[in-house]
Amino acid sequence: MSDFSRLITDWYRLNKRALPWRETTDPYLIWISEIILQQTRVDQGLKYFLKFKKNYPTILDLANAGEMDVLNDWQGLGYYSRARNLHHSAKIVKNELNGIFPQNFNEIKKLKGVGNYTAAAISSFAFNLPHAVVDGNVYRLLSRVFDIDIPIDTTQGIKYFQSLADELIDTTQPAVHNQAIMEVGALVCTPVNPVCNDCPLQSVCLAKQRSTIQQRPVKSKKTKVRKRYFHFLVYSSQGEILLEKRSSKDIWENMYQFPLVEVDQEDTDISQYTKSQRSESATITHILSHQRIFAQFHHFDFIPKKLDGDWIKVKLNEIQEYPIPRLIDRYLEKSAL
Ligand code: ADE
Repeated sequence: MSDFSRLITDWYRLNKRALPWRETTDPYLIWISEIILQQTRVDQGLKYFLKFKKNYPTILDLANAGEMDVLNDWQGLGYYSRARNLHHSAKIVKNELNGIFPQNFNEIKKLKGVGNYTAAAISSFAFNLPHAVVDGNVYRLLSRVFDIDIPIDTTQGIKYFQSLADELIDTTQPAVHNQAIMEVGALVCTPVNPVCNDCPLQSVCLAKQRSTIQQRPVKSKKTKVRKRYFHFLVYSSQGEILLEKRSSKDIWENMYQFPLVEVDQEDTDISQYTKSQRSESATITHILSHQRIFAQFHHFDFIPKKLDGDWIKVKLNEIQEYPIPRLIDRYLEKSAL
């Protein structure tokens, strides 16, 4: 075993968090946990993991569920394509793989939404196969310990870090090694204010010796953020409200929102839509990974007689039965509808 692996796994055995997905080797449950954890922090992810485990204890339960139920259980995590991919892949496993979860890295990677990281996580945690995980924690930790300035978001960087991680993995205990490297990255080698004094790798960390920790990892570009301006028309009367189903290939596919007018500019005149609104609108700024959405909500004390094809009238107290984007949920929490 390399010194690197011994240092992190010794530390891990003493300092690891007790997390429910670490108590199982069921590849299905590990898959669910990893997809959830791509979307949120561990403390938030816990309750979603427990909900999915309870509602869909096996992959067949997930395959047999309705899409609305799965999206509803995902609600609050955002990025619903991940939930759709889970559901889709569960059906593939049921219908094409005799209900048996694939058992090695290459077969696991064929599942929709599963890339190198997730396939390595599942194949190591469930089957103890020697595939090294490289997620954000691992990029950060390796770039610091070995003081690497190759940008992590380039083809060269991705290859370099994967082969370094593959060299370091302890093939006698891949599961523990992979958990350990991520745990040190998450708890000690944090993005800001890393706790170097508690780090099992402090004696070998090159960035610590050279004072380059702040500069690692290196990224080649900043992600571009697209600004969008949404005006939601909130038509509600006598305990009922209008919802619109989204369908286009865009964020929030197949989810429900209030009828929407999207414009290109912050100051675009939309008075033709808001003439009869009851009151000044509420504003919420919502941040997605590549988009910043400036949303205004305009209130109307009536429901139009003639409804567009993708509008439905629902009871106010039944809104939560529809999959709704987190932005709409935030509005409902704030408003007194
Ligand atoms: N983040 C991603 N996968 C994780 C895991 N298995 N344990 C803790 N944090 C994680």
